[in-house]
Amino acid sequence: FHVPPAVNEPVKSYAPGTTERDAVLNTYREMWEQQIEIPLYINGKEIKSGNTKEIRPPHDHHHVVGKYHTAEKKHVDEAIETALAARKAWADLPWEQRAAVFLKAAELVAGPYRYKLNAATMIGQSKNIYQAEIDAACELADFLRFNVEYMSQIYDDQPESDASAWNRVEHRPLEGFIYAITPFNFTAIAGNLPTSAAMMGNVAVWKPSDSQMYSAQVVMDVFKEAGVPDGVINMIVGDPEMITDTILAHPDFAGVHYTGSTSVFKGIWSKIGKNINNYKTYPRIVGETGGKDFIVAHESADPKMVATALGRGAFEFQGQKCSAASRSYIPKSLWPKVKDFLIKDVQSFKMGSPEDMRNFITAVIHEGSFNKLAKYIDQAKAADDAEIIVGGNYDKSKGWFVEPTVIVTTNPKYETMETELFGPVLTIYVYEDEKYEETLHLVDETSEYALTGSIISTDRYAATLATKILENAAGNFYINDKCTGAVVGRQPFGGARNSGTNDKAGSKLNLLRWVSQRLIKETF
Ligand code: ALA
Repeated sequence: FHVPPAVNEPVKSYAPGTTERDAVLNTYREMWEQQIEIPLYINGKEIKSGNTKEIRPPHDHHHVVGKYHTAEKKHVDEAIETALAARKAWADLPWEQRAAVFLKAAELVAGPYRYKLNAATMIGQSKNIYQAEIDAACELADFLRFNVEYMSQIYDDQPESDASAWNRVEHRPLEGFIYAITPFNFTAIAGNLPTSAAMMGNVAVWKPSDSQMYSAQVVMDVFKEAGVPDGVINMIVGDPEMITDTILAHPDFAGVHYTGSTSVFKGIWSKIGKNINNYKTYPRIVGETGGKDFIVAHESADPKMVATALGRGAFEFQGQKCSAASRSYIPKSLWPKVKDFLIKDVQSFKMGSPEDMRNFITAVIHEGSFNKLAKYIDQAKAADDAEIIVGGNYDKSKGWFVEPTVIVTTNPKYETMETELFGPVLTIYVYEDEKYEETLHLVDETSEYALTGSIISTDRYAATLATKILENAAGNFYINDKCTGAVVGRQPFGGARNSGTNDKAGSKLNLLRWVSQRLIKETF
């Protein structure tokens, strides 16, 4: 059985004078003036609870672009019951019929919804257009296309049989409903987590981040237009604790597909543990959480390449990526040149609203994030064992703006070498060249997380040593590249330790977590 071959959606350039640049800017400006009202989506219906919260763009928090309705407990109950009522018909559809729905969704993302999704991501999450395009348009289309291809491989995969026994495997959906919880930082993840479970015949209650509602609504519109039947994916938002507690208390809860903070994921895991005797089946727990991702340079590396990897890896997306480079280890012999290139690079980054397409850096997501980053920057200013070599300013008068900041420390266990900040702050430790191997062990020992990491080296033995010593310190390990920018279909993404269950987003492995196999043996 063949599905259309998955191809990565080409990234548009948005160069001055292109039609796509005008189209996305016009959409952005139109949306900026509208006051949108985002309902809950339950059983295909738009529900207005009457309890609303305002949406303000992070780069202009004086401006209101709309509001979203929040759920009460009765809405959560309704979303669950609706999903369960939709389950049988959806699960019984031949899988190609479900595949067709999600292939159509991919074409809607890449086509008619492209500029709306990008503009919503620029306004609601303050991404510049290049970041929005890679995330909302391309990565979401890629997740949908590649997952359909992986799904076809799963259904095709059958055990050996012979004349005396015909063995067949049914890849059945889980018995119950799935809870998808998605973060603010990727519109693509918002689209991926509910659909990867739904694709395999499951029904879902989806709770987007309340900091991502602006684009979440557009994603929901894509699902509807693509033909996801009523009740199969229900979107609710509101008090996260109330929603999660209600869902996890339900006997038909069959699994959680999560991306977000480590502490919230651990809280969910322990609540599932406490409820374990109430469930019909052991719930699947799939989560991608935090990171404290590293770039290690070896003395053989090209200093310019190291500086570029640091500048891009740490500051793209304002560092608001679980994969962002937030700590680095540079040999002393290379440091003067790396420092020079890095300072020049960072000083060239323009900061401001995404509407001005020259801006590489925009605002961080909200006041909480701004305050946390400001606190660590102030600590570095006062510390004896740290110094800020570029950046270090922040300004919240209009939006939540934090300059890309590089801290250099003489203490490899300095707080920002170990604590995840989720913003545009990079900390560097300069090591003695002859202590390369010792430094690799230090990186591993201080890797409470294990999401992404890079080694930059032209010496094959040195790169191999890093690959070996750091074998458990990163689920995505890059040789001679920055530690960000995994592409669906090429670099399946995820990590272990405190970074998650490593069920790689955009992979066959991930889709297999959403099925329960039934083996049928028939003899003649
Ligand atoms: N998948 C994203 C990256 O690799 C987070 O940067």
